[in-house]
Amino acid sequence: MAKDLRDFLQLAEQRGKLRRISTLVDPNLEIAEIANRMLQQGGPALLFENVKGSPYPVAVNVMGTVERVCWGLGMEHPSELEDLGKKLAILYQPRPPKKISQAIELGKVLFDVVKAKPGRDFLPSCQQVVLKDEQVDLTKLPLLRVYPGDADKVITLGLMITKDPETKIPNIGVYRLQLQSKNTMTVQWLSVRGATRHLRKAAERGQKLEVAVAIGVHPLVILAAATPLPIDLSEWLFAGLYGGSGIPLAKCKTVDLEVPADSEFVLEGTITPGETGIDGPAGDHMGYYGGVNEKAPLIHFDCITHRKNPIYLTTFSGRPPKEDAMMAIALNRIYTPICGSKCLRLLTSSCRWRR
Ligand SMILES: Cc1cc2nc3c(=O)[nH]c(=O)nc-3n(C[C@H](O)[C@H](O)[C@H](O)COP(=O)(O)O)c2cc1C
Repeated sequence: MAKDLRDFLQLAEQRGKLRRISTLVDPNLEIAEIANRMLQQGGPALLFENVKGSPYPVAVNVMGTVERVCWGLGMEHPSELEDLGKKLAILYQPRPPKKISQAIELGKVLFDVVKAKPGRDFLPSCQQVVLKDEQVDLTKLPLLRVYPGDADKVITLGLMITKDPETKIPNIGVYRLQLQSKNTMTVQWLSVRGATRHLRKAAERGQKLEVAVAIGVHPLVILAAATPLPIDLSEWLFAGLYGGSGIPLAKCKTVDLEVPADSEFVLEGTITPGETGIDGPAGDHMGYYGGVNEKAPLIHFDCITHRKNPIYLTTFSGRPPKEDAMMAIALNRIYTPICGSKCLRLLTSSCRWRR
């Protein structure tokens, strides 16, 4: 199993599924266009090593096929997705075992949960370089502008980490961020999202909401963040369950949040409730431009940390199939056993009711 994003890229390269591009490319429209053409052919992950206006290389299409999503989960073949689903189904509805074999199965899964607990890294690689206050300049990152009608450059594959101001339980989600200035971005999220709930709670308490955005993390952490989990279930634990061992976390420099210790970049900042910016239009995952939203929350970033020679990981939405569709196909296969058992129960209880 790959240790972090770099390790994963190396694995993909060894298997002939990563192509390096040393020709100068423009993050304004060009990278997304090249990547999209490759994605449509089921092509390899791409690493653009020479990006106009930025010293950092750009990785894209990393999970551009279901096969590579499976590799990200440490699997060799897509058929193993259902096996993981069956394991998670036991956790979703553990019942007292009736046979020894069932007790052994439950015991194994519970042991997996113990192993999945996140660890702590006190000298994290994501903090090899620390930039604060005036040193923060988001325009130096190779952010993509994907479509001609997009309002501005966006971060598309950042894990946004926030904490419930009351319970202190963290939430991790993938939300699109749009560049506003060298140290601010707007975030586009649905009202049902975990972080949206956290912002509402912070507003009720008259507090700012602290945020961290981790970019360039192991694929399985992205998959855990993209899984819609109940609010009291930790995405970190799920990442550990997907990967078979707990992921190492690091405490942020300026906010009270934890991030994957091996992230390539981490952006740390705050949202003041009520402070908004004009966001959009941007090409959405259905292939249309989402409209202008003048009420998107504005994030002020006061600190950027990164690894030495960091790699910027990105993706893009649009008319399917795109990379997010590959993740959705894999997640669907994992969660079908869980949905299946729930539907069966619903069906049997409804049949009883009809009788
Ligand atoms: C590539 C990608 C981009 C996404 N962009 C957004 C977005 O811009 N806004 C949003 O609300 N959800 C977006 N999502 C979906 C959420 O990240 C996902 O539903 C996640 O489970 C939400 O977590 P939460 O419910 O804990 O907040 C995206 C997912 C992926 C994989």
